[in-house]
Amino acid sequence: MKIRKAIITAAGWGTRFLPLTKTQPKEMLPLVNKPLIQYSVEEAVKSGIEQIILITAMGKRAIEDYFDRSFELEHILEKKGETQLAKEMRDLSSLVNIFYIRQKEQLGLGHAILVAKEIIGQEPFAVILPDDIIDSEVPALKQMIAVYEQYQTNIIAVERIHREDSVKYGIIEPKPVSNNVYQVLSIVEKPEPDQALSNLGVVGRYILMPEIFDALKVTPPDKKQEIQLTDALQILLKQQAIYGYQFDGVRYDTGTPAVWLKANITFALKHPVFGPELREYLGQILHQF
Ligand code: UTP
Repeated sequence: MKIRKAIITAAGWGTRFLPLTKTQPKEMLPLVNKPLIQYSVEEAVKSGIEQIILITAMGKRAIEDYFDRSFELEHILEKKGETQLAKEMRDLSSLVNIFYIRQKEQLGLGHAILVAKEIIGQEPFAVILPDDIIDSEVPALKQMIAVYEQYQTNIIAVERIHREDSVKYGIIEPKPVSNNVYQVLSIVEKPEPDQALSNLGVVGRYILMPEIFDALKVTPPDKKQEIQLTDALQILLKQQAIYGYQFDGVRYDTGTPAVWLKANITFALKHPVFGPELREYLGQILHQF
């Protein structure tokens, strides 16, 4: 079955970015000249997704306004002769069909996915965590959809991590099956390095079968009272195969302030307009620090 729908989870508090996120969603922080959330939406569109279900929460209205049409702004731009800019604003609001659902209580990533159950129905779907920006030639989700087409079951994105960082990731116990593809034998959320069964950590892209919803419903909350997707995947493993796919590309966890800054510098250096000026500037100031 074709992957038509993608859930983008954007309901988290973003506490690591306080005070910035006190009054604005972290998904609206810039990555050079676009808000972070736009990269996820564009990746979904380029991967053939037809419907996006964006999970939001209190204080996240700026995201809805951003992808909405602003006739007033377009009119003002047209009047000023800024026809190209007016077109860009129109194009932005017609990128894709977006449905918004509010997660009324922030009870974890697993719970955020569960609130989209009715709108997903009985079909496989994608999940994108907008914090994880993946810079790649072929969009990461598109690569995963190709793997899904081969295996027709749950596919989760994995990457090699430093063992001491296992406490930040879901870690899989892998059985290699082909180039960059591993069958998941078990999966554990945030194990201590000496307990981790590999150095393959799960990152923010998933293709999931609809049976994940039944698993999520019976997943007990963790110590922080959050329902973890990883725990639901471990339950799902008892009835369905899950494959880990090591994607081609560089991932930036922009939910971490230092990495967000690094991603901004890297993307800006690669940008055709800002790159040359920034490179020169960095060359001038670096020796001062
Ligand atoms: P994080 O673990 O990064 O949490 O969530 P967070 O709240 O966004 O950020 P910090 O840790 O407070 O700084 C991982 C993903 O799960 C979503 C987040 O929006 C992010 O995409 N999420 C998390 C939800 O949608 N709902 C939740 O209840 C928790």
